[in-house]
Amino acid sequence: MPETFEADLVFAGGGNYLPSADLWMVIDVLRATTVMTRWFELGGTELYPVKTPDEARGLVNELKARGSSPLLMGEVNGIPPEGFDMGNSPLDLNYDVIRAHYCGVMSTTNGTGALLEAESSGCPVMAVSFRNYSACLDHALTIGTRIGILCSGRKHRPSWEDTLCAGAVIEELSRHGEVLMSDSARIALTLWQNRGNDTESYVRKSNHAQYLKQIGYSDDISFACEIDSSTVVPMLAENEERTVLRAVSGSARPYQRENDRITPEIKNKTDPFEELLAYTRKKA
Ligand code: MLT
Repeated sequence: MPETFEADLVFAGGGNYLPSADLWMVIDVLRATTVMTRWFELGGTELYPVKTPDEARGLVNELKARGSSPLLMGEVNGIPPEGFDMGNSPLDLNYDVIRAHYCGVMSTTNGTGALLEAESSGCPVMAVSFRNYSACLDHALTIGTRIGILCSGRKHRPSWEDTLCAGAVIEELSRHGEVLMSDSARIALTLWQNRGNDTESYVRKSNHAQYLKQIGYSDDISFACEIDSSTVVPMLAENEERTVLRAVSGSARPYQRENDRITPEIKNKTDPFEELLAYTRKKA
């Protein structure tokens, strides 16, 4: 008897209301959760999400006083704040940066706040992007059947790309069994299923994608649209002194998709790990 799942979706963070769920999948495709995924893909061990740049600076000083060397990263309106080591481009991360730090502190306009909002639910929370959504969903289904999806959105309003990614998650969920959807979940699924055969072009219609292109981050959009290219599952650790993301152990493995679930994007892709190694060799 196939399982029955529930999918509920909140279009944007900052609403201070989350419906009941077994866990929360937080999405900020451009670019916070894409950066978080990249961080752990490259071997990062800890990533501390905080709400504001000042909180980030304070936490970095605290961690340095304890002998750590965290990377200070993030953005305000897409641009690195004063004194940050890097902004919020996933393409600014590489093995050397990770090897020099392993631990990072991150503050962004919407994404880190959405993670902290989801944490207030008291449920498990994971950072989800187009790059890792199937791996995240596989892990989510080991936790429960009531899937909550929090789209970070943009300044408390829905974002096109986060809603699209949520639709991809819900479509993938429907391959596991019957899904009882909220209206918001159904809207996201419909948006995703009407994207045509060029996901990246569809994503590029978004306001934030157009803004990122204007300020010189067009390549980040292509990178963010590499569907299921990663198997890392970043999750908020529980019972820690501070809110911290870690990769679920063993989540970074060659990701085998069962035949009935290979999508066109996957069918035409080389082995994601080969592709990642080639990419990092090029970037190194
Ligand atoms: C966000 O938090 O909305 C994004 O990280 C913004 C960005 O990276 O441009």
